[in-house]
Amino acid sequence: MTEQTTDAIPHADPFAIFEAWFAQAKESEPNDPNAMALATATRDALPSVRMVLLKGHGPDGFVFYTNFHSRKGGELAANPHVALLFHWKSLRRQVRIEGPIAEVTPAEADAYFASRHPESRLGSAASDQSRPLPDRQVYLDRVAALRAQYPDGNVPRPAHWSGYRVAPTAIEFWQDRDYRLHERRRFVADGKGGWTSSLLYP
Ligand SMILES: Cc1cc2nc3c(=O)[nH]c(=O)nc-3n(C[C@H](O)[C@H](O)[C@H](O)COP(=O)(O)O)c2cc1C
Repeated sequence: MTEQTTDAIPHADPFAIFEAWFAQAKESEPNDPNAMALATATRDALPSVRMVLLKGHGPDGFVFYTNFHSRKGGELAANPHVALLFHWKSLRRQVRIEGPIAEVTPAEADAYFASRHPESRLGSAASDQSRPLPDRQVYLDRVAALRAQYPDGNVPRPAHWSGYRVAPTAIEFWQDRDYRLHERRRFVADGKGGWTSSLLYP
């Protein structure tokens, strides 16, 4: 067996580690390095999970945008606690994030909505996300009707289409190591703006 160094994941600020790993993922992932699984649960603790895109991050949290009337939106209204998961296969790394969500401000949501491609804006404004759709043509017709109404694509952001910021209470970094002697370091917020961290058995 080869000798392994003992410490590949630094004990430093977890946001700095995330920043460094995310920058590497942007270089090496074939697509969507910002794709993350979002796990929610109902008030009765029944779980569900789906992918969303990370659209902002920093020490105040991790932001994604969605339709608040969707299934996830309903679950989040009932239970604001989520888990996020990044799996960067090209780097053989995983990051787990847990915490409560808060809505982004309308100004933040407006700014992000305005940055999207006009067709994407029309598509999200026309979508009753997670509701039954009798026929795909029904959706395409709704997009076309909005396009006719807003030929420049400048459809207003629907009030129910906005973002959530996950304020992390725990962040865990997992790094593949030889012979499955993987490395895990879990950071837990100390409630005073700092973090404590410890290694976990893989
Ligand atoms: C790579 C990827 C990225 C996605 N990003 C988003 C996103 O940022 N926001 C979103 O609402 N749905 C996104 N989706 C679609 C969701 O996975 C999901 O189908 C949708 O949000 C409805 O989920 P729900 O019924 O649990 O609310 C993405 C799907 C994939 C595969």
